[in-house]
Amino acid sequence: MDWGWDRGGEYLNAAELVVGELAANAVTHGRVPGRDFLLTMALVLPPEGGSGTLRITVADSRGERLPMPVPAPCPDGEHGRGLVLVGALALRWGVLPRFPAGKTVWAELPGPPR
Ligand SMILES: Nc1ncnc2c1ncn2[C@@H]1O[C@H](COP(=O)(O)OP(=O)(O)OP(=O)(O)O)[C@@H](O)[C@H]1O
Ligand SMILES: [Mg+2]
Repeated sequence: MDWGWDRGGEYLNAAELVVGELAANAVTHGRVPGRDFLLTMALVLPPEGGSGTLRITVADSRGERLPMPVPAPCPDGEHGRGLVLVGALALRWGVLPRFPAGKTVWAELPGPPR
């Protein structure tokens, strides 16, 4: 990443994890045959200075199924932890409808101090 974020540092690690979980969900749960998903990342820097916010969006074409965080994933289960991880790392996250079909899952993460 060309934003001066330390490779291997906590901020970039968190961003990689959230991108990975949301992208994995798009291909596992949000896939429509013949359609791709769209990943965007934008660093929003407040004009008055201070830390920026990284906004990650992953759009997929499946509008009738939505992310449903599993409140208490089974300790022995292999799934149901992705959105728990996203919720723990992100400042906030959510879902928006996408025109003409599908949805956009978004998450905002704190950036490193400037
Ligand atoms: N992009 C998506 N489209 C449709 N449903 C989704 C999407 N993302 C998540 N979900 C739903 O929310 C549930 C919880 O997602 P989460 O990522 O927490 O767990 P998982 O994908 O089932 O397992 P894991 O991420 O731990 O491998 C999923 O099982 C799925 O039903
Ligand atoms: Mg998942």
